[in-house]
Amino acid sequence: MFKEYLKLNRYVRIRWILFVGGMFFMVGSILTSGISLSTIVPLIDRIFSHKKILFPENLPSFLKNILEPLKSFLNNAPPILLLKYLIFFIITVVLLKNLFFYIQNILLRIFGERILTDLREKIYSKIVLSSVDFLSKKRTGELTTRIIYDVGVLRRAITDGFPKFFFKLSEAIVYLSIVVIIDWKMAILSFMIFPILLYPIFRITKKLRKLRENVQKEYGNLGNTINETIYGHKIIKAYNQEKVILEKFKRENENIFRTIVSILKRTIAIPPFTEIIATIGASGIIYYGATKIIEGEITPGFFALFLTGLFSLISPLKTIGSSYTEIKQASSALPRIFSILEEESKVKDEGKKVLSEFRDRIEFVNVSFSYGEREILKNISFTVKKGEKIGIVGPTGVGKTTLIGLLLRFYDPTEGEIRIDGENIKNFTLHSLREKIGLVTQEPILFCDTVNRNICFGENEDKEKIEKVAKICGISDFIESLPEKYETIIGERGFNLSGGQKQLITVARAIYKNPPILILDEATSSLDSNSERMLQLAIEKAMEGRTVFIIAHRLSTLRNVDKIIVLKEGSIVEEGTHSQLIDKKGLYYNLWKLQHQST
Ligand SMILES: Nc1ncnc2c1ncn2[C@@H]1O[C@H](COP(=O)(O)OP(=O)(O)OP(=O)(O)O)[C@@H](O)[C@H]1O
Ligand SMILES: [Mg+2]
Repeated sequence: MFKEYLKLNRYVRIRWILFVGGMFFMVGSILTSGISLSTIVPLIDRIFSHKKILFPENLPSFLKNILEPLKSFLNNAPPILLLKYLIFFIITVVLLKNLFFYIQNILLRIFGERILTDLREKIYSKIVLSSVDFLSKKRTGELTTRIIYDVGVLRRAITDGFPKFFFKLSEAIVYLSIVVIIDWKMAILSFMIFPILLYPIFRITKKLRKLRENVQKEYGNLGNTINETIYGHKIIKAYNQEKVILEKFKRENENIFRTIVSILKRTIAIPPFTEIIATIGASGIIYYGATKIIEGEITPGFFALFLTGLFSLISPLKTIGSSYTEIKQASSALPRIFSILEEESKVKDEGKKVLSEFRDRIEFVNVSFSYGEREILKNISFTVKKGEKIGIVGPTGVGKTTLIGLLLRFYDPTEGEIRIDGENIKNFTLHSLREKIGLVTQEPILFCDTVNRNICFGENEDKEKIEKVAKICGISDFIESLPEKYETIIGERGFNLSGGQKQLITVARAIYKNPPILILDEATSSLDSNSERMLQLAIEKAMEGRTVFIIAHRLSTLRNVDKIIVLKEGSIVEEGTHSQLIDKKGLYYNLWKLQHQST
């Protein structure tokens, strides 16, 4: 499990210095708390009961050597002076202890938060930089879950679980050493008594957890029934089902009552039960300890220290268990995160040439493509000369969007190649290739940002140029009417635009980029005739002087293009101009007829 966490090292820089520093101060904090606890001994033995302090006989010799001068000082100083010293000492130690505690906590938390921040960035940049196939395979929901939820679970484990685990573990070791050093026989005795006595409580809490889960579920059922009743009340009445649903509610409601009563019976029993058990256990230990005090084998001070150490052990032991579980549970998020970080992009940016200018032609040469096993495009070949407009037509799902995605290298062909000016596009850098191509997607995609920045999208924000482009697209009037004009925030969480307005803005975005090659994937959603005409005009403007691929669903868009290719079942079945294809009376003609009969 810890190995899994260490694997994080491969993806993010782990600041070990913070960790080591944190651990150092943690040890300091725990030791000082052990020391402050030990002041009980002189306090009780010398100051309150005027006894000489007897150190336990069976101390390890190194401890004896350290404690010898301390012992003679403690036993010779007058009690009132000792009290003053002791109070000063306690305050200093507690100050130090808390200072150390603060420093260790801060260091370890920063250590954890740094890892998580870097990890979030790693996953995010993996998503941004990876190829389209990676993104379409994962569901968006899943990726968001990885970044937000899984990293969140890890966050709790790394910044909270780990520090707590180590802190409580060391604390437990200190307290354990105290009780063992004072009297190991008495320590073993106590460790045997308490688990036996506490076993029933352990059973009860386990049962309680189960009951609490049940009551959650039962409340859920009840909520469902109420919702259904309100939502479906007409049907319930129309079908005379009031009685039946009422019975159901009663049953569920009574179930909750019964479960809650069994929870109450147990919860209320725990504190008195615990007290009884603790008293029995403590009495046993006190009896044993007191006989030792009477026999002079141990001083009251050391016995008090023993008891305090013993009871101080309870809380760390409890926390160690719970934080260990937390760390273990969170570790299951790690493989999921790693699998994302390790996944390789299929489309590799390995081309070295820079496509500085598009001069002559684009060729698809025997291009085939499949998504996994499913073959979508078969042996597609065609050439587009610079400046030509080419229309792509075919039934829905035939692979039109896929085809133009290949030109942008969202995916690479499974067979064949695509060439620009005779060079396989794989040989160009992705950046220089995509720089030459403008894309208007089938579904208009806007970002939650201003109109301005949605149009210039990443290019230099030239206000004048944006307004000019907006005019060309015929949207300047409409943008002027927005509450903040060009500074209005649009997109999913911004100002709501109509479908047509969204599309016009995406066309404006493509014109602003001013690429030599333009891809227009016509939207399938129908627009009213006015927006339709505006869009048509904008698209015609956008096409001027460029090499254009138009995927058209409304065939009237294609009347003036230089060439149309018609796809069917993944292959080109017809090729030619609009009038040639009409004369041919094939698939294109049929589609055309269909559209013109319905309008
Ligand atoms: N990421 C993907 N993974 C697997 N299959 C896909 C993926 N994207 C699309 N497909 C499938 O590939 C086929 C072609 O899809 P594509 O989007 O290219 O069709 P289209 O011709 O553009 O359709 P439309 O006219 O409806 O826009 C469809 O059957 C689709 O289900
Ligand atoms: Mg499509």
